[in-house]
Amino acid sequence: MKHVLSILDFSKEDAARILLRADRMKAERHRGSVLNGKNVVLIFEKASTRTRVSFEVGIRQLGGQSLLMTPAESQLGRSEPLKDTARVLSRYADGLVVRTFGQDVLETLVEYGTIPVINALTDKYHPCQVMSDMLTMYERTPKLEDVRVAWIGDGNNMAHSFINAAARFPFSLILACPAGYRPDPEILEKARSEGAKIELTDDPQQAATGAHYINTDVWASMGQEAEQKQREAAFAGYLVDAKLMALAQPDCKFLHCLPAHRGEEVSEEVFEGAASVVFDQAENRLHMQKAIMEWVFAE
Ligand code: CP
Ligand code: NVA
Repeated sequence: MKHVLSILDFSKEDAARILLRADRMKAERHRGSVLNGKNVVLIFEKASTRTRVSFEVGIRQLGGQSLLMTPAESQLGRSEPLKDTARVLSRYADGLVVRTFGQDVLETLVEYGTIPVINALTDKYHPCQVMSDMLTMYERTPKLEDVRVAWIGDGNNMAHSFINAAARFPFSLILACPAGYRPDPEILEKARSEGAKIELTDDPQQAATGAHYINTDVWASMGQEAEQKQREAAFAGYLVDAKLMALAQPDCKFLHCLPAHRGEEVSEEVFEGAASVVFDQAENRLHMQKAIMEWVFAE
C-alpha cells in the first residue's frame, strides 16, 4: 500500500513519472476510472480552498466519491482517539486525504488504518502543493537541471517540501530565511545527503540574484496567527517586490501557493504582474493530485 506523507515517499523515478503523467493529464483534460467505486474521506482540521476543492473535483474526475470530515462536525473534535478513527474509517472508505497540524497525526492514521493516506498539508510539509509547483515550473522550463529556485521567507511546511523536492528533481534551491525561521536542519541534511543542491542564506537579495523562480509564502502560517506581529518584525526586508524581482533572470517567474497577503510578503505589483504564475499553480493542484492519486490507487 502506498501513502504520501511527504515528497520523499516518491523515488526519483516515481517523482519524474508523476510529473509527466500530470502534464499529460492536463493536456488531455483527463477523466479516468482509477477511483471507480471508491470513496475517499477528506479530514480537514484547517481551512482550505484550493486543496479541498481540487481534491474533491479530482476524485470525481477519476470516478470516485469524496466526503469531508471536520473536527467541528465529527467525534474528532470531541477527543475520540485518532487510532480509533483510523480503524473505523478503514472499514468504510478506500483512502484518506488529511490536512492537520502534526505530521504525527498522519503517521498514526497510517499505523492504525489499513487504507492509503495522502498529506493535504501539515505544519511540517505540503507535498501536493510543491509537486504541483514542480509541474508549473516544468511547463515553462522542462530542463530542471538548469533551473535555480529561490525561496524567500519562512522556513515552513512549503520550504520543507521544496527541500524534499530538491532531493527528487534536479533543480537547485536557495533559501533566504531570517534567524529563528530557518528550515529544520534534519530535513535539510537528509536532502543534501541524497544529492540535493541547496544553499541557505539570510539575504533575500543574494537568493533572488539569477533565480529563474522566486517563491514566497505567508509569514504566519495557519496555527501561527498569534505570532503575526513578531513575525512581521522578523521578516522585515523579505518582501518580494519589483526591486527584488529585478535581480533575478529577466524571465523569472513569481510563485506563491496562495492565499497571499499583498503588501506583506509580496507587493501588489509583483502579485498582479506579468511574472506572476500563481493561478497556473492553483490550477495545477487539480492535475497533479489526479496523477498522485493514480500513483496511490492504481493496482
Ligand atoms: N495552497 C493551498 O493549499 O491552498 P488552500 O489552503 O486554499 O488549500
Ligand atoms: N504555509 C501556509 C501554506 C498555506 C497553503 C500554511 O501552512 O498556512
